[in-house]
Amino acid sequence: MSLVITDLSKHYGEVPVFSKVSLTVADGEFVAIVGESGVGKSTLLNCMAGLDSWDSGSVVLDGLDLGRLDDDRLARLRREKIGFVFQAFHVLPHLDVAQNVALPLLLLGQHDDARVQAMLEAVGLAGLGQRLPQQLSGGQLQRVAIARALIHRPTLLLADEPTGNLDPTTAALVIDALIEQTRQHHAALVLVTHSQAAATKADRVLRLAADGLSPFALNQSNG
Ligand SMILES: Nc1ncnc2c1ncn2[C@@H]1O[C@H](COP(=O)(O)OP(=O)(O)OP(=O)(O)O)[C@@H](O)[C@H]1O
Ligand SMILES: [Mg+2]
Repeated sequence: MSLVITDLSKHYGEVPVFSKVSLTVADGEFVAIVGESGVGKSTLLNCMAGLDSWDSGSVVLDGLDLGRLDDDRLARLRREKIGFVFQAFHVLPHLDVAQNVALPLLLLGQHDDARVQAMLEAVGLAGLGQRLPQQLSGGQLQRVAIARALIHRPTLLLADEPTGNLDPTTAALVIDALIEQTRQHHAALVLVTHSQAAATKADRVLRLAADGLSPFALNQSNG
């Protein structure tokens, strides 16, 4: 896996969101992205997955220039190589936990109950497979979203504030499950977070601002 972003710029109408964002993520690397609310972190993550468009620059995943792929090829690339944990979990309310987690496999035409059960166990949801999302706590729901993003063994996992509303203890558990699972499958992890505790665990921490991404030293901040 390799992800190479070069001079990416994005506007909404006349309003610039970010410009000149460059980033290379290596195989198996864990990169944390921090930055103020509204600076464009979710937008950037969406661009990495080809879920949003940009004005100039490029996003190249495993040698494929996402800006040149049509929608079908982008969708296939996402299904095969990318896992995405959304800021709002997007868990499907009418499917039970196991069915939610199995969804990416289903889209690839695969069935693997054993793998689903093992994944539920890995994120601490053993025995909850038959529950509906409304019967889960917030932290359990976030773990469903993580399990679903990992079940098809993506090479690139993009996680947007996966512990946004959790207490520090549960947040640490969720982050550790995420790191453990990505390491096991040698996936690269790009994590957007406001949590210092989570960012501390990354190989690299970058701060997004209007003029691009730059290295960020956690111990210099007081947030
Ligand atoms: N569809 C849209 N049209 C116009 N502006 C938008 C649209 N979507 C997002 N924005 C703006 O783009 C900017 C970046 O939004 P984004 O969601 O990427 O920020 P963020 O860094 O993820 O913030 P947060 O930390 O609050 O999640 C914000 O100022 C937002 O208001
Ligand atoms: Mg966001």
